[in-house]
Formats: sequence, C-alpha cells, structure tokens
Amino acid sequence: MSKLLRIGVLASGGGTNLQAIIDRCKDGTLAAEIAVVISNNPGAGALERAHQAGISTLCINHRLFSCREEFDDAVVTALQESQVDLVVLAGFMRIITPTFIEAFPEKIINIHPALLPAFPGLHVQQQAIDYGARFSGCTVHFVDGGVDTGPIIIQAVVPILPDDSADTLAARILEQEHKIYPRAIQLIAEGRVQVDGRKVTILPVRPVAATALVNPALDD
Ligand code: GRF
Repeated sequence: MSKLLRIGVLASGGGTNLQAIIDRCKDGTLAAEIAVVISNNPGAGALERAHQAGISTLCINHRLFSCREEFDDAVVTALQESQVDLVVLAGFMRIITPTFIEAFPEKIINIHPALLPAFPGLHVQQQAIDYGARFSGCTVHFVDGGVDTGPIIIQAVVPILPDDSADTLAARILEQEHKIYPRAIQLIAEGRVQVDGRKVTILPVRPVAATALVNPALDD
C-alpha cells in the first residue's frame, strides 16, 4: 500500500467537516491519515470527535498568546512536529499569518460555505440570502495571504430556496461540504492537483458535463 497523506486538521467549532474526513479515512475512500487535530477553542466539538476516533488532539488557546504571530508559531511547530504533508482548515476561525503560510507553501487548504469569489468572510449564508442570490454553495481552496482568496480546487452549487433561513441554507451547503472536502484531499493525495497562479488543474484533464443549473427552472 502506498504511503498515506499525513494531514493536520485545524478546527474551532463542531467539527462536522472533520467528522466527514475521519469517516472517509476509515472507509478507505480517502488515502490519508489524520496526524493531529488542533483547536484554538478548548470547547470545540471537533476535539471531542477526534478524541472519539482515537486521533491525537492539541488545544492551543489563542487567548493565552500576546499576538497572532506567537499563536501561529505554536501551531506551526505542532504541525511540523506531527510531520504533516497538508494542513486542512475545517471551520478554523482564526486568520493565519504570512509566516504560517510560508511554512506550508501550497499545503494549506480551507473550506468556505459560499461560491467564491462571491461572499468571502463571515455570515455568508445570510449575506447570500439578503443579496437575493439564486445559488450558493461551497468552495475548497488553497490558502493565500487574503481572506478566502486562494486558488479554487473544487466547488459545489446549491439553490437558494424562497423560504430559506441562514440555517436551512447552511445545512444544505454543509451536506455538500462533507462530500467535496474529503474529495479535494483525495485529489491532493493522488498528486492530481496542479496549481499555476490562480488556476488549479485536476489531472488527468477529463471532460466536465456542461450542464447548466437554472433557478427558477426554465419550465417553471
Ligand atoms: C463550515 O460551514 C465551513 O465551511 C466553515 O465553518 C463551518 C464549520 O463547520 N468554514 P464544522 O465545524 O465543520 O461543522
């Protein structure tokens, strides 16, 4: 069996994306092993999920550090000690510093619950609804120096329904997050992800079904 990709997962919250990654590692559809789960939040459900799965955990509480750089140094050291090949941000609610990014060039990915470049930042499900967008979705991207600006690896699209609240839309998006995040990691594990500036190519290049999504439906 070829070597598993060693990943370090950073999470601040409930950890459902972490759980999806754990489950795909377990059922063998993801050729990766989670070397460590790190959270800045002692109460993160993600830590409990990792613990249940027998994965090493580390809580590095950002409140105990005097500045962002010192916190990031501690996280980088922990990830290096765990010898991770890839850093996976899964609901990690801290902006990371350039030093962190330079320590893992093109080796940090994030998932965002909107169709980037629309709606970067926070509370994006509500923003998409308030804007009147007819579709939203989720995006897995490499992390660069900006907020949710890095090269895009994979996206999933969901419709926004007339009676959606931020919660119902978030749940519809989350269901897709749980599919595309493990998939993105698997593509990286297989060495199929090539980055050239902003453009990511998935190798080998295969035809994509050129089907349009329309909301409301054309025959409505
Ligand atoms: C997800 O919606 C993710 O896209 C965003 O934060 C949320 C984390 O959810 N970055 P969970 O902790 O994985 O359940």
